[in-house]
Amino acid sequence: MIDLSQFIPFDKVNAAILGAAVVERTLSQLRGVFADSDAYERALLEQGDPLVYSVASVELATGDGDLHYGIGRIMPGRVGQEYFLTRGHFHQWRPAAEIYIGLTGAGRMLLEHEQTHHAYSVDLLPDGVVYVPGYTAHRTINVGDTPLTYLGIYPARAGHDYGALVDRNFAQVVINVDGKPCVVQRKQFLADLAVIR
Ligand SMILES: [Fe+2]
Repeated sequence: MIDLSQFIPFDKVNAAILGAAVVERTLSQLRGVFADSDAYERALLEQGDPLVYSVASVELATGDGDLHYGIGRIMPGRVGQEYFLTRGHFHQWRPAAEIYIGLTGAGRMLLEHEQTHHAYSVDLLPDGVVYVPGYTAHRTINVGDTPLTYLGIYPARAGHDYGALVDRNFAQVVINVDGKPCVVQRKQFLADLAVIR
């Protein structure tokens, strides 16, 4: 049992916090999340059902001004050209912002404002911070060859809204082009795939 009045150690390599609840997502649980649905079906056949990401969360304090936090880990891997990623979410309480602190590996975050649709991406690297503003969907992507781990800190009131992204998804995708991560428009990526096939 975690005691918030004590020092709480975490393991940044395994993305573990002693006593914290862990959620794991394998490839078969991420249907509809990757842009290239043919590559997704192929990956399930070829890779089996690998672990894509896990999150260990500490969500004990529940007052208005309280904070929650968690360590996320995304394994290295790809579905076709698209790197392994998190489902992504808005906060249920839309004004809630979040701080991401890079711990290990090399990552990229996709951010997208709900109303303006302003979409941009930011590196997520060890010993640095990404600020996720309120009203902004956020997805984390492992663009390296080793596990990406990071600490996320957010208001206790934030909550997670995954449903709002089910149909919409993100306007951008991060794909591997000649061994390097490249941010492209989802529509363009799908159009290019349709031409190739
Ligand atoms: Fe969040």
